[in-house]
Amino acid sequence: MSPRFTRRQILSSLAAATLARRTARAQSDELTTNTLFGIRLEPFVDPLPIPRAIRLPATPGHTSAPERIILSQFRQKLHRDLPPSLVWGFNGTTPGPTLVAARGCPAHIEWHNRLPDQHPLAVDHTLDGAGPDIPAVRTVIHLHGGHVSAENDGYPEHWIIPGQAQRTHYPNRQPTATLWYHDHAMGITRLNAVMGLAGLYLLHDPDEQRLHLPSGPYDIPLILQDRILDAGGQLAYPVGPSADHPWVSEFFGTHVLVNGKVWPYLTVEPRLYRFRLLNASNSRIYQMALHPEQPFYVIASDGGLLREPVESAELLLAPGERLDLLIDFRERQGRRLNLVNYGRAPYPSGGSPVPGFVLQFRVERPLTPVRQTSEIPNALASVPRLAEAAAVKTRRLKLVEFMGPDKRLQRTLLDGKRFMDPVSEDPLRGTAEIWEFVNTTMDTHPIHLHAIHFQLLDRRAFDVRRYQSTSEVFYTGPLLGAAAAEQGWKDTIICPPGQVTRILAPFHAEPGRFVWHCHMLEHEDNEMMRPYVIRSA
Ligand code: C2O
Ligand code: CU
Repeated sequence: MSPRFTRRQILSSLAAATLARRTARAQSDELTTNTLFGIRLEPFVDPLPIPRAIRLPATPGHTSAPERIILSQFRQKLHRDLPPSLVWGFNGTTPGPTLVAARGCPAHIEWHNRLPDQHPLAVDHTLDGAGPDIPAVRTVIHLHGGHVSAENDGYPEHWIIPGQAQRTHYPNRQPTATLWYHDHAMGITRLNAVMGLAGLYLLHDPDEQRLHLPSGPYDIPLILQDRILDAGGQLAYPVGPSADHPWVSEFFGTHVLVNGKVWPYLTVEPRLYRFRLLNASNSRIYQMALHPEQPFYVIASDGGLLREPVESAELLLAPGERLDLLIDFRERQGRRLNLVNYGRAPYPSGGSPVPGFVLQFRVERPLTPVRQTSEIPNALASVPRLAEAAAVKTRRLKLVEFMGPDKRLQRTLLDGKRFMDPVSEDPLRGTAEIWEFVNTTMDTHPIHLHAIHFQLLDRRAFDVRRYQSTSEVFYTGPLLGAAAAEQGWKDTIICPPGQVTRILAPFHAEPGRFVWHCHMLEHEDNEMMRPYVIRSA
């Protein structure tokens, strides 16, 4: 059994890291290795694994035979110098296989839970929906970003236990996008995620093929998951000071796994590549750059392609978010470039990342003579800008944190309500609404809505104290528009502390009961999740 770390140990290590005042960039230059939690690992010694792709049967308009996916426990090597670690995954790998679907071709998936009955990590039985009378090991798979009906969405309470199967139907009727699947079981999602229950789901369509973006071996997923690896190389998850309430308010790992390996490297040709970046971490927000500096061209966000590529030296990616980007290695033959993370944890005012490695690109592979475009397209897709005036309703929803008598964070809430409280968000199908997230906390919360995609309107700083005493929003800063890379269709939006983040959401999904929640999984598991209902017209 793996040793566990207390929150105090984690905090003091973060503080120590801050004191050391070494930036991720400096670390990247020195190639220092992590010493914080016993296991010291050398970065960039393993090649980046590419998850196996499963092509879902593509018969337009016709749902084919179900694809069986097995959830099980096994051991997988996470780094050259580690013994295999106990993990959970799909068809024997974590992250799971990349499911590749075609637009217009519905898919049936059967998720067979063959996990053991005991959870390797400490379940907190005081959390709602995870009581002592409820099985410790439960799973329910959700297709994040998928436009699916309520019965197929993986509602947190619709979990199954080992020996059972969950059947889902995905219509694949939405535009091309990088989606992902992961566990969503009530009160234990954070633990199931750390064990490894996540994978990518790519939806292709002919419109995208017309753009001749890099494809095949030049279209590479990068799934970021941070983990704490103990001295024996096993996955560890911190526990709070009280044995019967082990929940901790955030999880920040000491190592970053990309596609299931600690700080791997990728050997590339001197050409244009497409990367599909997914932040599948529990709490960590990555703020990343290439070193030596080189721009990214962001071509898609959560819900699909942007209007046009957005050149950016830096990426900000919160849990749940995706970014598709192009990197041009043509002028970089023989060079090595590090993707480094210097985002503080918690973001934006916590400690420096320890260390800030993510991945190393080695432009050391000879150019193969295949026909691939090397041009960055000028235009990508038509993304209509929704008019604010189209909204039939505005909901003001506050994000709050409650401190317990021991001064520890006890619980995080959406609009002061718990998951079990009656539904309050009940948009009418076919209408658009503005949701204003009033973040009164010190943390950034990535807020995710199921079933639909929305657009970011703006963000604006407000007087938190005044709001807390009068419930009135008094703005103190200028209106901040969406950054270019956030102008597309979003399903997860960064809500910075002390700001009101406004989104415009058209509820075009089939009527039914879904959820919206913070995608920091520790928050989601402890009441920062609410049901919502799309009412039929
Ligand atoms: Cu990625 Cu409700 O989840
Ligand atoms: Cu949160």
